[in-house]
Amino acid sequence: MHLFTEPQFQAQAQHYVAVLASRGVEVQVESIEKLNARFLRLNPELALCVDEQGLWLCANGMKMQPDWQAEIPRLKRASLKSEMIARACQLAEKPRLIDATAGLGHDSLLLAALGANVTLVERHPILFTLLEDTQRQALVHPYLAPIAARIHLVFADSADYLKQCAAQPYYSDVVYLDPMFPQRDQNQQAIKKQAQVKKQMQLLHLLLPEHGEMDLGDQLLPLAQQIAKRVVVKRPRLAVFLNDQQPDTQWQGDACRFDAYFQLDYQTLG
Ligand SMILES: C[S@@+](CC[C@H](N)C(=O)[O-])C[C@H]1O[C@@H](n2cnc3c(N)ncnc32)[C@H](O)[C@@H]1O
Repeated sequence: MHLFTEPQFQAQAQHYVAVLASRGVEVQVESIEKLNARFLRLNPELALCVDEQGLWLCANGMKMQPDWQAEIPRLKRASLKSEMIARACQLAEKPRLIDATAGLGHDSLLLAALGANVTLVERHPILFTLLEDTQRQALVHPYLAPIAARIHLVFADSADYLKQCAAQPYYSDVVYLDPMFPQRDQNQQAIKKQAQVKKQMQLLHLLLPEHGEMDLGDQLLPLAQQIAKRVVVKRPRLAVFLNDQQPDTQWQGDACRFDAYFQLDYQTLG
């Protein structure tokens, strides 16, 4: 994959090349005079770029990085009562939570803002590196710093990670799952409402199919149930159940729903 950068960001670019190489991604740096919108339009293939704001994914004239600062207004409005995700994950009890499908980390940011201690697991090396960069910036941001400090990033396939937890044994209060769902899902309706989110999702979808057949994450549910009192699965509103397993309870929203699965000993509703 190409990584575009201007000469003054060569040192930062080399840092990302080394980090990505350690995660199995080969990147070729191309130094260019001006990394601007015109350059990105003229070079539409999927690539990376580095500027004063760090590492970006770019394609089709757009660039994207997980944007936690843009989430601040939402975080400020959020409360344990108003957020369905908070009720589904029983955040009032300040749980230890594993988010096994990190993505851009937005759900976990909200969970951490509402008091959870989150282990955030992502298997895609480029997405993980983008997330790591975003967390680094959040840790020095006056509002985000205490929230980002409650998030611990892990680069792993969650199937392996959850198996390791079960073998230790390590128990978590909650495992949260939001696996990919085919493009035609109802999420697209919600995504269209927000141009910024739409752009991020378009680029994310370009990046993630590299794994070949889309992995819908069915195997993660039984693994999560081995180590958590409560497993919460985010689904498009009308989607089939993960792993065809009927949940113990559900929270329904306009675009998505949360399906919750309890361990038999812990059948308490949030
Ligand atoms: C729909 S996105 C999650 C979005 C996320 N909830 C957010 O708020 O940004 C799904 C993410 O889970 C990751 N993923 C899927 N299966 C995984 C696995 N077995 N281990 C680790 N990450 C996984 C994908 O690479 C993708 O980034």
